[in-house]
Amino acid sequence: MHRDLPPSLLECLRNTTPGTDEVIHLNNAGASLMPRVVLDTVLDHLRLEARIGAYEAAEAEHARIEKVYASVARLLNAHPDEIAVVENATRAWDMAFYALPLKRGDIVLTSTTEYAGNYISYLQLQQTRGIEIRILPNDERGQVSVSAARDMLKDPRVRLISLPLIASNGGPVQPVGAIGPMARAAGVWFLLDACQGVGHLPVDVKKIGCHMLSATSRKYLRGPRGMGFLYIEQELCRQLEPPFLDLHAARLEAPDRFRVRPDARRFENWECNVAAKLGMGSAIDHALDIGIDVIWRRILALSDSLREGLAAIAGVRVHDAGLVKSGIVSFAVEGLSAAEVQRALAAQEKRINVSTTTFRSTMLDMQQRGLTELVRASVHAYNAEHEIDTLVTSIDLLAKGKAHA
Ligand SMILES: Cc1ncc(COP(=O)(O)O)c(C=O)c1O
Repeated sequence: MHRDLPPSLLECLRNTTPGTDEVIHLNNAGASLMPRVVLDTVLDHLRLEARIGAYEAAEAEHARIEKVYASVARLLNAHPDEIAVVENATRAWDMAFYALPLKRGDIVLTSTTEYAGNYISYLQLQQTRGIEIRILPNDERGQVSVSAARDMLKDPRVRLISLPLIASNGGPVQPVGAIGPMARAAGVWFLLDACQGVGHLPVDVKKIGCHMLSATSRKYLRGPRGMGFLYIEQELCRQLEPPFLDLHAARLEAPDRFRVRPDARRFENWECNVAAKLGMGSAIDHALDIGIDVIWRRILALSDSLREGLAAIAGVRVHDAGLVKSGIVSFAVEGLSAAEVQRALAAQEKRINVSTTTFRSTMLDMQQRGLTELVRASVHAYNAEHEIDTLVTSIDLLAKGKAHA
């Protein structure tokens, strides 16, 4: 089996991930196993809060909290003033999307792989503001057609192009590096949902050319739950009025006057889980120390080998499309529901965690491909080859009816 990581680094990744002793965790697209350093960072801060008081702990750790912005900026090749730290990817995305002055007749372009949560927001603005939603067609490889995007961007009513870098149900890494410059040339905002992308593969906002990007901490970044961030390009940031303001995003200057912060923190709110914020910072530093390109090469090698192993089993069908496929491997086992497969794997002697992906979270894509549900096995760099082998063997037995579903 193809190895792409020095055994010593893999050993180190596994030794610093306590959960690897307990489970075969292939649900990194849901939430990854945290490295010990992240867990310690979170717990240390909670202990400090319990010992000296939460506000006092935040004051004592002020410099480290500020460093989180520098870490996010380094991850994305952005400036710390372009980063807002918020509760999750959805809140990050919402704050950017609902700030855009979209009006009746404006067109939003998105992909079939759009996350249903974002799609609901388009529908809401269709109903309340009269915007139009247009879906970019896929090319023969099943990813957004760059030439169709070029044509559709010619319509002067297009104001926004908004897509996920990697869909939550697997499938292609979208060709965002080709789309960004086209959007810019057309004067169209580009909002990138990188929820499944950060910590997974290199994400450089300058190279991509997106104006806004949303992401979460708990997935491929391996940070704690309940954290995420928004990147918003400096110039655009100053022009956009956040949908909500509070005492942190704005300052009350007189009874009839307030001033909004100039930086991206205008999209934050004051109260925040500081322990989780520090934990996300340490998860990013950890990933950057390993090297995002090292992580990505490892994920590619492991997921290729998983797809190959699964595809060779009679009665199993792998459903991932696209020229470049991510670490999210989606498949179906003939005669078994996705939930049955998930349950059977969870019941193994060493529990195997996978998840299921349903019609409702990526409806357009699933509908177009005639699918209702899939099993989702999402690999990360810390997964070992023998874990991939164990999953393939278990699925083989299930498909042959030799193991109980
Ligand atoms: C592509 C994509 N976008 C957005 C989200 C929402 O992220 P969060 O739960 O952090 O708000 C998800 C979650 O699965 C996702 O996969």
